[in-house]
Amino acid sequence: MSKPVLFVTGASSGIGRAAAIAFARDGYAVCGLARRAERLASLQAEIAALPGAPGRFLALPGDVRAAAELETAVARAQAQFGRLDVLLANAGIGQHGALAAADWADVQAVLRTNIDGLLHSVRACVPALRANGGGHIIIVSSIVSGIHTPYTATYAASKAFASSLAGSLRLELEGQNIGVTDALIGRTATEFNQNRLGEAHEISGGLPSASAEAVADALLQAVAKKQRHVLVSAFDRAALAGGVLAPGLMARLAKRQYEPRGGGNPE
Ligand SMILES: NC(=O)c1ccc[n+]([C@@H]2O[C@H](COP(=O)([O-])OP(=O)(O)OC[C@H]3O[C@@H](n4cnc5c(N)ncnc54)[C@H](OP(=O)(O)O)[C@@H]3O)[C@@H](O)[C@H]2O)c1
Repeated sequence: MSKPVLFVTGASSGIGRAAAIAFARDGYAVCGLARRAERLASLQAEIAALPGAPGRFLALPGDVRAAAELETAVARAQAQFGRLDVLLANAGIGQHGALAAADWADVQAVLRTNIDGLLHSVRACVPALRANGGGHIIIVSSIVSGIHTPYTATYAASKAFASSLAGSLRLELEGQNIGVTDALIGRTATEFNQNRLGEAHEISGGLPSASAEAVADALLQAVAKKQRHVLVSAFDRAALAGGVLAPGLMARLAKRQYEPRGGGNPE
């Protein structure tokens, strides 16, 4: 059999970049999509220089908000490698600040990237996975999908959408030999916080943070073991359980993390 093929969105930094490298090390050919072409070029060089057999990487500059760009990218991936086995739907952005005070452009950017982008990625890849006799989809959600998080409401709601979609898709696709993992990611050391739209806000509180490499390894395992969920750390498990068992308490703790400096009524 030819090498299995990963299609990853948001490959230019953070979790997507680390996953591209982890899957390439594991023998996958990797197709990476993101807007920053120069970052994809440096990833390509890094994968080509992996020790052992040189890794294979196809850079796909593109924007997940545009359905046509996803369709073209998937067609290029199939033309290059002849198959597609795994979609890692990872591209996403955050936003901080009170909803009523947020720029509508920021709210739109979160919804179009985290919701439309996810839908376009899934819809473009499912026919390719099906043509291959099956495969796997990982949807990168967040533990905030299960916790009420004020001052990052649009982002948290977009991740609740992602997790809900993962559960529905799993049932739709199980008869087609396509597994679906809902990756409930907790705080991870990437560029995500500094790129967050809206009010600048240092999210502190001494909470533990995973490395992008640790998350990438967990995602690789999730495909190998066909896991339904990924929870990287005991802290993430406890936070999610807290969201179910003591939602009010968890929401108050989250509010402390995200509340804008000077209180919650920015005027
Ligand atoms: N870091 C955390 O604490 C954390 C926690 C829970 C969940 N997550 C989730 O993990 C995922 C990855 O985030 P990260 O932490 O790795 O952040 P990151 O380092 O900022 O990476 C985000 C990636 O998404 C890509 N992206 C953003 N908008 C895009 C668009 N319109 N089209 C194509 N690609 C786009 C970016 O590439 P370009 O800018 O080059 O397009 C980048 O590669 C996100 O879905 C995020 O919500 C992160």
